[in-house]
Amino acid sequence: MLQFYEPARDYGTPKKASTQSVSLLIDGQSVTVPAGTSVMRAAFEAGVKVPRLCATDSLDAFGSCRVCLVEIEGMKGYPASCTTPVQPGMVVRTQTDSLARLRRNVMELYISDHPLDCLTCPANGDCELQDTAAELGLREVRYGFAGANHLGAAKDTSNPYFTFDASRCIVCSRCVRACEETQGTFALTIQGRGFDSVVSAGQGEAFMASECVSCGACVKACPTATLTENSIIEHGKPEHSVVTTCAYCGVGCAFRAEVKGSTVVRMTPEKEGRANEGHACVKGRFAFGYATHRDRIARPMIRDSIDEPWRIVSWEEAIGHTARRFREIQQQHGRNSIGAISSSRCTNEEVYLVQKLVRAGFGNNNIDTCARVCHSPTGYGLKTTLGESAGTQAFASVAHSDVVLVMGANPTEAHPVFASRLKRRLRQGARLIVIDPRVIELVDAPHIRADYHLAVRPGANVAVLNAMAHVIVSEGLQDKAFIAARCDQAQFAHWLEFIRDPRHAPEAVEASTAVPAQQLREAARLYATGGNAAIYYGLGVTEHSQGSTAVMGIANLAMLTGNIGREGVGVNPLRGQNNVQGSCDMGSFPHELPGYRHLSDAATRGLFEREWGVSLDPEPGMRIPNMFDAAIDGDFRGLYCQGEDVAQSDPNTQHIQAALGALDCLVVQDLFLNETAKFAHVFLPGASFLEKNGTFTNAERRISPVRKVMPPLAGKEDWEVTQDLANALGCPMNYSHPSQIMDEIARLTPSFRGVSYARLDQLGSLQWPCNERAPEGTPTMHVDQFVRGKGFFALTEFIPTQERANRRFPLLLTTGRILSQYNVGAQTRRTANSTWHPEDVLEIHPHDAQERGVAEGDWVGIQSRVGNTVLRARISERVRPGVVYTTFHHPLSGANVITTDNSDWATNCPEYKVTAVQVSRVTEPSAWQARQQQFDRRQQQLLDTATPG
Ligand code: SF4
Ligand code: SF4
Ligand code: SF4
Ligand code: FES
Repeated sequence: MLQFYEPARDYGTPKKASTQSVSLLIDGQSVTVPAGTSVMRAAFEAGVKVPRLCATDSLDAFGSCRVCLVEIEGMKGYPASCTTPVQPGMVVRTQTDSLARLRRNVMELYISDHPLDCLTCPANGDCELQDTAAELGLREVRYGFAGANHLGAAKDTSNPYFTFDASRCIVCSRCVRACEETQGTFALTIQGRGFDSVVSAGQGEAFMASECVSCGACVKACPTATLTENSIIEHGKPEHSVVTTCAYCGVGCAFRAEVKGSTVVRMTPEKEGRANEGHACVKGRFAFGYATHRDRIARPMIRDSIDEPWRIVSWEEAIGHTARRFREIQQQHGRNSIGAISSSRCTNEEVYLVQKLVRAGFGNNNIDTCARVCHSPTGYGLKTTLGESAGTQAFASVAHSDVVLVMGANPTEAHPVFASRLKRRLRQGARLIVIDPRVIELVDAPHIRADYHLAVRPGANVAVLNAMAHVIVSEGLQDKAFIAARCDQAQFAHWLEFIRDPRHAPEAVEASTAVPAQQLREAARLYATGGNAAIYYGLGVTEHSQGSTAVMGIANLAMLTGNIGREGVGVNPLRGQNNVQGSCDMGSFPHELPGYRHLSDAATRGLFEREWGVSLDPEPGMRIPNMFDAAIDGDFRGLYCQGEDVAQSDPNTQHIQAALGALDCLVVQDLFLNETAKFAHVFLPGASFLEKNGTFTNAERRISPVRKVMPPLAGKEDWEVTQDLANALGCPMNYSHPSQIMDEIARLTPSFRGVSYARLDQLGSLQWPCNERAPEGTPTMHVDQFVRGKGFFALTEFIPTQERANRRFPLLLTTGRILSQYNVGAQTRRTANSTWHPEDVLEIHPHDAQERGVAEGDWVGIQSRVGNTVLRARISERVRPGVVYTTFHHPLSGANVITTDNSDWATNCPEYKVTAVQVSRVTEPSAWQARQQQFDRRQQQLLDTATPG
């Protein structure tokens, strides 16, 4: 079921929202539009297209090209229709002989300074200059090409994804405005004046040397071939397109995958996509080449031990072998000796099938998902306080926020398209509080400066949140009416007594949090009294031993100030991977069936038992860390791991490697021989998001379609492989399309009752709950009452982590992400994105570096209580003294060799964000890195020598 949509129309100038309407006449036709609308847009609505070059409806009108001139009765001259707002009773003419002459004259000037090589130009047929010249009937150019011109201007090919060919530039400034208004980076300017005006990145730098973050907004906005994707230059124009959803982060941007033959030649962000509204970042926009990378494994393989070469086998043999091995293990070691890990990178339908396979086919509940190691505390914390394990708003809601609190999240790196929305609102005047150990970009970005940056010591989030609540309560800033109407009164009274205690005062926690009390007080007052206040948080909140407590502390703050249940407010987890929300929704946790319903509930179990024709084990299964511990103990012997690279992403790598090495049968379904697959006995080739149908659910609960753009390289979509395995295990599944899996999910899950592929095709995307009560979905949750009824103020006692700095390990390591790389890097490392981040480095404050004699670029050993690794040092004041920081995108960096087994008390989410370490100069890789390199080489050899068999 391929979907082809016409690209959205361009109305020339942005839509205006006004309660007042204005009626006018355009070329004799009456049209009524909201006040503030431009004459150009009003004309378009009346079916009249006024020629234009510098206008596009994603950017504010600029009025530079003078092609869109019109005549307006009572007005002198020829006003530009893009910058002229409509007035009641206006009479506009867009097509007269004098206008045609004027417009042609302007076009002649442009064309006389433009290469006339349309036939060989990469934008031929997709160029607004060419179209407008044709529209105006331009046949000849009177001015000739002999005079001064820009035809010899140099190309900038520094960016790996697009080329800037200055000779084709008409200086319409759309690129500059896109970089400012859409992306918010301000990397481009127009330098010089008049004829000498040129577009310039930075101060006359190459794009790669400038502040440019390669989002591609300027490329999309450019009406000529001046800024063109290199893939289009190489392959030519696309022939058709399919609308789908980005497979990287939890923003869930909609894209038009543009295809020539069976090659994707461009990913264009979809204007109608509700999560991104036509914007993108460097990952979704450009980093799709991994799907056809030579490292892809396209045939199933098996081996008896990880010291043997792989044998390439048929799908039938691989599936039959896996089923046989799993049954043998269960016969020998019991029903609970096998399990599965599903991935937040896979579709809803895929993760639903994996949990069904485990519960109905394996006969146990040993299913867990990688959300365990990122946002499981969000699920627990928000369910406990508000009653639903999900964020409360749509991304667009931030346009109504007056105060934004960003905590433990770095949106410009990890959720860039949401960051652009946020930055737009901040430039409009919303206030900003950042709570983060590190100076993230938002603290001081172009035209943005955080009002407060609370540089909390890693591990002290709960103390900061409690102190903020303490200030609000002790200064009487809470929303009493909201609390009285919406929250559990007895529990609130209990909590009030708890939070009033002087031990939560900012002054009392100043030493443990490292946040100056006065700053904290002022930030709390701003959050409570600054108007609509919204909280956005990320893994810097959840990945702690008190992750769940911090999430509850955040929900408490929102309830306390009445900042929940309308636009512009709320509690918003920024999810790392594309389908973290969906994988949790789909019942991937060992204690919950789809829709967050506990296994112990007999009625829910009965529902699934009837649908699946089995009886279900009411006992929760093993979580990921339990599976690994049990593997080392010898009780857990078989694992089906779909799309998740636990050997790189999970903490305490050496422990994970030992567990994987102890398994009798490890089955990995993935695109590449990732770190986990190096320990596997069965490799089932996976399909990239371009090769399958399904849905992803983003951080705002938005279910968006993933549509097949090209055939699966290995012949099967991932859900088909799970289905084959289920059938081989005697657990019948008989779907012929993932839409049928979604129909089953909708039948069994109240919050998904109204979701179907037909509805998604019709509406583009849907935010759950979507059911009889909300047939078009739910952008804002908890509007009149909380899902749990009354809001619950959980007690959030601050208990410092066991992981403390001391003389032996005096620094605290915290981790995060970088824009160009994604998670374990398996995809982005196989694209030109590595140009920006070829290795992980250790950020260290100049003071700590100096104490250790460490200079920029030195190799440094990082020793924790569980292991050590070696990285290059980057001296940076983004981290405070006593804190060091790294990313985890490259396997050999071994960031997780040093992270510990500490985890969240409620959910076991690992404490990635706090590891006590010592740092010292070294001259060679760590022992683990040396061993790992050897192991990698051996595994690559075994792959290279794989034989048919
Ligand atoms: S690069 Fe493109 S968008 Fe920018 S000024 Fe030139 S023609 Fe306009
Ligand atoms: S790619 Fe994005 S960041 Fe770079 S110049 Fe263009 S709009 Fe600005
Ligand atoms: S990585 Fe995230 S922000 Fe970037 S295009 Fe994909 S979904 Fe959008
Ligand atoms: S489109 Fe109106 S001046 Fe350029």
